[in-house]
Amino acid sequence: MQAEEEVRRTLQELGVRDEQGVARLFQSLREQLQRELEELPGADGAELFRVRWLGRRQGILTAANDNWLKPAPAALKRPVGRLLNELKQYAEQALEARRQELATASQTVRLAAERLDVTLPGLRRPLGGRHPVQIVLEEIEEIFFSMGYSVELGPEIETDYYNFEALNMPPGHPARDVWDTLYLADGYLLRTHTSPVQIRTMEKQQPPLRVIVPGKVYRHDNPDATHSFMFHQVEGFAVDTNITFCDLKGTLDHFLKRFFGEAVRTRFRPSFFPFTEPSAEVDVSCIFCDGVGCRKCKQSGWIEVLGCGMIDPVLYGFVHYDAARYSGFAFGMGVDRLAMLRYGIEDIQLLFRGDLRFLQQFQ
Ligand code: DAH
Repeated sequence: MQAEEEVRRTLQELGVRDEQGVARLFQSLREQLQRELEELPGADGAELFRVRWLGRRQGILTAANDNWLKPAPAALKRPVGRLLNELKQYAEQALEARRQELATASQTVRLAAERLDVTLPGLRRPLGGRHPVQIVLEEIEEIFFSMGYSVELGPEIETDYYNFEALNMPPGHPARDVWDTLYLADGYLLRTHTSPVQIRTMEKQQPPLRVIVPGKVYRHDNPDATHSFMFHQVEGFAVDTNITFCDLKGTLDHFLKRFFGEAVRTRFRPSFFPFTEPSAEVDVSCIFCDGVGCRKCKQSGWIEVLGCGMIDPVLYGFVHYDAARYSGFAFGMGVDRLAMLRYGIEDIQLLFRGDLRFLQQFQ
């Protein structure tokens, strides 16, 4: 008989008359309870089991109390009471144990499902690298640092005064045409060279000066393999007492030999810049054919790499230096061009396209 039906009747109705009968009755009840306990489907099942067996109002064991114990004949009260108590305790303990078991089991299942293989290799973060222009720039800086130079920077948006006027190019001066200037509103322009930082530095500092100025410059050139509207220059200058053209030659010759290798020869050709007097352009013997003559040097055996000269004393007037006391030299070079020579890059546009297939070659 099902437990819930059994407990609706009294012992008398069930035909239980002695202690043995009581023991058998409880034994069968216990077996049913155990079976149900085994088959609990989960945490919800455990709660249903508790209500069904131990519930205060309709629980089977509560009913057994009401229907078996209370009306039991005096002789059977003790054994019924004792067995009922035992079974209640057993039910409570077993339920608790089963609950624990179910919790552990579900945790085990969850842990298995959420298992992480910590031995799997992680995602590799791509490592960034220096841009070829940056690599070459740092190399240039390193060489000049070793000669006691330090770095000054200036704005890319400049005034006409610094970009031209104080560099000995008054308004209307024809030399301004050389720099294809991008003009902005309100008299500003994008600096066409790093030379304005000569003036800015001399305004702030007194000689002796040994300064290089790396930076971006802008010109309205049409982009092609050798022209870009933005490129990089390194300006350099030294102002002190007794600085001569010899110092200029020695400095640049040393720099170029360290940059291109001891084997290169250098050549200074007379030239013109408004802010230097005298002025020169400097060539190195072709690094591709060692001066023999090839496509790269247009069969001349020489490659032009920078412009330079003795700072025109007119500039000292703008910055209130004593031109009788101080002299100096200045030079300017294109970093992108040097990078192209260093790496044999034939199209300057490659440097600014951001194509990783190209850039990754330089890490
Ligand atoms: N500023 C010049 C240019 O952009 C380069 C240059 C030439 C800079 C001679 C100098 C110099 O300091 O002395 O073409």
